[in-house]
Amino acid sequence: MTYDPSKDGAETDFRQRMSYGDYLQIDHILSAQKPLSKAHDEMLFIIQHQTSELWMKLALYEVEAARRMIASDNTAEALKMLARVARIFEQLNSAWDVLRTMTPSEYTRFRDDLGQSSGFQSWQYRLIEYAVGNRNLAMLKPHEHRPDLLEKLEAELARPSLYDEVLRRLARLGLPVPAAVLERDLRQGWTMNEDVMAVWATVYRDPSRYWEAYEMAEKLVDFEDYFRRWRFNHVTTVERVIGFKRGTGGTAGIDYLNRMLEVELFPELWRVRTEL
Ligand code: HEM
Repeated sequence: MTYDPSKDGAETDFRQRMSYGDYLQIDHILSAQKPLSKAHDEMLFIIQHQTSELWMKLALYEVEAARRMIASDNTAEALKMLARVARIFEQLNSAWDVLRTMTPSEYTRFRDDLGQSSGFQSWQYRLIEYAVGNRNLAMLKPHEHRPDLLEKLEAELARPSLYDEVLRRLARLGLPVPAAVLERDLRQGWTMNEDVMAVWATVYRDPSRYWEAYEMAEKLVDFEDYFRRWRFNHVTTVERVIGFKRGTGGTAGIDYLNRMLEVELFPELWRVRTEL
């Protein structure tokens, strides 16, 4: 006998009920893939970017909530969210394996159809960078044609980053974070600060005494670790697919991406390890 799930209680009549597809807006999502060429691999390229953007959306949502939690002294809840963000990046890291199945010859078949579009113009990626503390105002420019996006990015720059919130929390825990750090111009990118490193050194030399700060530090390092891997996987995939060609977005391509590998989100947390 062929198995009939409806005889087992599975609902099969959705004329009056919300179905899976209704709830998840599946029609909406699945109608958003519009290849511009006849090249077979363009579908992979589109879906890889779109799914990355969806995961970025969740990462932003979690970072946003984690920041709120830290600001209201609910660190334990924030840590759970930050652990999730690191896992999201791990998920994105595994996804490169799928894209790497596309060879240079296959990509060349549709690359020209992309015009000047590039992940460089991903506003969600830029928002993640801004939210965690990597604030480069020059990156606002590609979004000037979209006032709504510019507004989102500008609003982010006016707020304390995740790292700023962590440092503020350290100050509330009684650690000597300098006033100049707590009152810094938020729009500026973060640069290595010796006094902040000294604070982290105090924390790392006596974790049980500063357990909350220590846990926050390790969660940030964990996040940056996975984020760095994302950048590294991206640049390696790019070199594998386009070699040293310029990017569709107009940068030098590999040279630009290699330079971005040097970005440090939480420099003191990496340097402090040498001091211990
Ligand atoms: C074959 C696949 C890919 C190639 C050849 C490629 C190439 C490039 C290049 C050359 C750049 C530098 C900017 C430019 O001049 O265009 C770039 C930036 C970027 N790409 Fe990709 N990319 C690929 C896949 C992806 C995927 C799947 C994502 C996921 C969303 C992505 C996201 C980004 C982001 C966010 C940037 C900006 C990085 C930054 O400014 O630090 N790329 N890409």
